[in-house]
Amino acid sequence: MANETNSASSTAAPLLQVRGLRKAFGAVRATDGVDLALQKGEIHALIGPNGAGKSTLIAQLCGELQPDAGSIVLGGEDVTALAAFARARKGLSRSFQITELCPDYTVLENVVLSLLLTTGRAFQAWSNPRHDPTLTASAARWLGEVGLDDRAGIHVRDLAHGEKRQLELAVALARSPRLLLLDEPMAGMGAEESARMTALLNGLKRRYTILLVEHDMDAVFALADRITVLVYGKTIFTGTPDEVRSHPEVRAAYLGEEAC
Ligand SMILES: Nc1ncnc2c1ncn2[C@@H]1O[C@H](COP(=O)(O)OP(=O)(O)OP(=O)(O)O)[C@@H](O)[C@H]1O
Ligand SMILES: [Mg+2]
Repeated sequence: MANETNSASSTAAPLLQVRGLRKAFGAVRATDGVDLALQKGEIHALIGPNGAGKSTLIAQLCGELQPDAGSIVLGGEDVTALAAFARARKGLSRSFQITELCPDYTVLENVVLSLLLTTGRAFQAWSNPRHDPTLTASAARWLGEVGLDDRAGIHVRDLAHGEKRQLELAVALARSPRLLLLDEPMAGMGAEESARMTALLNGLKRRYTILLVEHDMDAVFALADRITVLVYGKTIFTGTPDEVRSHPEVRAAYLGEEAC
């Protein structure tokens, strides 16, 4: 299948430019020469069947996995050789890892912690910052952004699954990301929670650049400005939701009846 880019993409320099990214696990070519360009302010969805290489691509973007070949350029700077923590400092880090949340801290404290880590303030000062009015006010604002203001004092362990995902989004936003890498933010959610998360992400549109990996096609088609389809480690198509819906190879490879 040919690589195509049919969408009316902007002529502005992309915020993220990925070229020829390759990663093999033994005989499995998880990403097999991936090219991808994200324009500032777009929600760009990455879809594809199980095992297509989506999470492997995200892991390479955030620096958890070193590619075998290819380059990752963020805002004109080649970050391919940078470690994950160095990329995170440049605003490129993965979100939605619930394991990152501290279950014994409150919702508000988790966001304060994220702000602390972002600003690089000393960890030993933790007992004070959790009551620091500037930090807590800022954290409360992020909670408002994700609709968790009324849960600020609850321990994370007592949150519902969907609320943890909302908190994870607040934690990510508090890091002032240049690019949000979201790997299946709707995973494990019921219809109501998915709809809430879709609305939240829609509220971030234009203010953030988002790479959204998601199997929930309702969410993808509601949110994405452009969609890239990955199959067996190769991007087979990039286009608008309408272009993707009507693309015969994409329908055959992935969407099936969902595209009808
Ligand atoms: N650490 C690893 N070691 C060996 N093989 C791996 C590893 N990580 C991923 N793979 C393999 O690489 C391929 C791509 O996996 P990946 O998890 O990136 O797919 P995915 O598109 O995210 O799938 P899903 O939609 O199920 O999350 C799969 O064949 C997978 O088994
Ligand atoms: Mg995955």
